[in-house]
Amino acid sequence: MSLQPTWDAVDAYFSEQLVGPDPVLERATAAADAAGLPKIAVAPNQGKLLHLLALTQGAKRILEVGTLGGYSAIWLARALPGDGTLLTLELNPRHAEVARDNLAAAGLAGVAEVRAGRAADSLAALVEQGVEPFDLVFIDADKPGNPEYFRRALQLTRPGSLIIVDNVVRGGAVADANSTDPAVIGTRALHELIAAEPRVTATSVQTVGSKGYDGFTLARVQG
Ligand code: SAH
Ligand code: DHB
Ligand code: MG
Repeated sequence: MSLQPTWDAVDAYFSEQLVGPDPVLERATAAADAAGLPKIAVAPNQGKLLHLLALTQGAKRILEVGTLGGYSAIWLARALPGDGTLLTLELNPRHAEVARDNLAAAGLAGVAEVRAGRAADSLAALVEQGVEPFDLVFIDADKPGNPEYFRRALQLTRPGSLIIVDNVVRGGAVADANSTDPAVIGTRALHELIAAEPRVTATSVQTVGSKGYDGFTLARVQG
């Protein structure tokens, strides 16, 4: 028996009570849907979790890997102070275009930049350029890329920075050591990498909700 209807109802309840109507985000979702983008953005209450983590972190510089239509980027960018910036990386130029429109409509055009291209290339270029460290990194692109994105995130952060990875459970598949799913292999490799990495302290948690049964990894870069 699937508990998905219950998970949906609870997410709807929490979002109604604690997120509330938000015309800017609703417009962003409608525009992404109208453009035919996949409906895989974080849920409203998850977006608010990202927002709260960015606020708690006092983040001034945020990096996102995997923009889609800019839904999570709007939540994250709204946590920035006046002089803060968000950079979000997106492979698909059509997704990037929708996200730029949505961020502009959210009044965040001056704060958030969408960079089109392969995230691996954009991240390598940022390292090469020696940019200022990011205070928070949200990794939510192709899952086979997770180990590389995490390694790059470590090069682009400082002690005290927070790295968050989405979709690390995927219905429980992450526990299957024999999985041949490249997404599972990538996320298991991510966990092995983190386990062997003294520069971070991390945990992963399972979630249920409107996005099914999934989870997040949170990793804090150590001093
Ligand atoms: N963070 C978004 C959802 C991202 S969905 C939100 O919650 O609102 C994953 C996105 O990663 C998709 O838009 C997909 O096009 C993008 N992506 C996939 N492979 C990529 C790659 N190699 N480099 C950059 N982006 C990639
Ligand atoms: C998929 C990707 C995501 O980032 C997500 O949150 C849910 C699903 C996907 O590729 O199916
Ligand atoms: Mg995701």
